[in-house]
Amino acid sequence: MVREKIVGAALSDDDFDQNLRPQRMHDMIGQQDVCARLRIAMDAALKRGEALGHVLFDGPPGLGKTTFATCIPNELGVSVQLASGAVLKAPKDLVPYLTNAEERSVLFIDEIHRLPRAVEEYLYTAMEDFRIDIVLGEGVNARTHNLWLKPFTMIGATTRAGMLSGPLRDRFQLREHLGFYTVDELTALVMRNARKLSVPIDTDAAQEIATRSRSTPRVANNRLRWVRDYATSRSDGHVTLRIAHEALEMAGIDTAGLDSQDRRYLETLIRVFDGGPAGVEAIAHTMNTSADTLEDEVEPFLLRTEFVVRTPRGRTATSKAYQHLQFAAPEKRLF
Ligand SMILES: Nc1ncnc2c1ncn2[C@@H]1O[C@H](COP(=O)(O)OP(=O)(O)OP(=O)(O)O)[C@@H](O)[C@H]1O
Ligand SMILES: [Mg+2]
Repeated sequence: MVREKIVGAALSDDDFDQNLRPQRMHDMIGQQDVCARLRIAMDAALKRGEALGHVLFDGPPGLGKTTFATCIPNELGVSVQLASGAVLKAPKDLVPYLTNAEERSVLFIDEIHRLPRAVEEYLYTAMEDFRIDIVLGEGVNARTHNLWLKPFTMIGATTRAGMLSGPLRDRFQLREHLGFYTVDELTALVMRNARKLSVPIDTDAAQEIATRSRSTPRVANNRLRWVRDYATSRSDGHVTLRIAHEALEMAGIDTAGLDSQDRRYLETLIRVFDGGPAGVEAIAHTMNTSADTLEDEVEPFLLRTEFVVRTPRGRTATSKAYQHLQFAAPEKRLF
C-alpha cells in the first residue's frame, strides 16, 4: 500500500522512524568494523555473482540490527522478504518464504531466537544446501519430496543469540555483534537527523541529547523528537543547549540518561532496602510494579552503567548510585 504524504503536515511517529532509518550503508553511523566486513563480503558476492553468505546480527535493542538488515538488500540491489520468528510457528509457515526466494535475494527473519526448534531444524538444509523436504499427499500416500531452492541470503536478527541452537548459529557465515555507541557517534547521529528533519540545532545541544541517550541510536532519535516538539512549542523551533536542557529535564531524563522510573528503582533500593541486597520481587512489590518490567526495562541499563550490581543475594546499589542521587554513603558497605 502506498501511503501518500500531505505536504506540510507534521510527520507521524511511523514516518519519523522511517525517515530517519538509514537505507544505505554510507548513511550508517558508527559500527565501523561491522560496516567494513559487510562491505568486503558484499563486494565479493557481487563480483562473483553469488548470493551473499548468511548474516546474523545480535546485540541489545535499538542498536541497528534491523537497519543493517534493511541496508544490505539495497546495497546488493536484490529483493527482500521480511518475516518474524514470532509468527513462524511451524515449518509449513516457512515454506512459502523459502520457495518464493528469488536467486540472491534476502530473507530477513527478525527475532530469530523465537523460532520453535522444529522450524530451526527445517532451516538447516535450506541454509546449507538450499534444499528442503516437503511432504505431498496424506496418510499412507504421503511422500517426501526434495525441493531445490534458489541460492538466497538469510539475515537473522536477535537480541538473544544464546537462545539459538548451535547448528543454526554455525550456518551463518557472518556473525556480527552490535555494540553501544559513543557520545561522539550519537552527536553525529542527532546532528544528521536534525538536518533530515529540517530542525536547526546547535552542536552543544546535540551533544547534550547524545549524552543522555544511553549509548543507543533509537533512544537518541526519541529524545530528539521530544526536544524538537519542545523547541517548537516553547520557542521558535531552534534547538539551543538551554532548550535541550529544559526539554530533557521536563521529561525527567537526567545527566546520566536515567529516567524517572530508573531513579525510583534506585531510590527504593537505597531508602527502603538500605542499598540492598534485595530481591527483584521485593523491589517490584514496593514500587507497585512487576518484576518482569524491572528486569526487562529498568535493570539492563542500571547494571550496564554500574549503578546496581547483581549478587547471589540480590540487587545492591553501588556507591555511584548513592553519589548520583546525592544520598549519603552508608557507614559500612560492600561497594
Ligand atoms: N548505525 C546507525 N546509524 C544511524 N541510525 C541508526 C543506526 N543504528 C540504528 N539507527 C536508528 O535507530 C533506530 C533503531 O534501530 P533498529 O530498529 O535497527 O534497532 P534494532 O537493533 O533492530 O532493535 P530491536 O532489537 O529493538 O529490533 C532506527 O530506526 C535507526 O533510525
Ligand atoms: Mg529490530
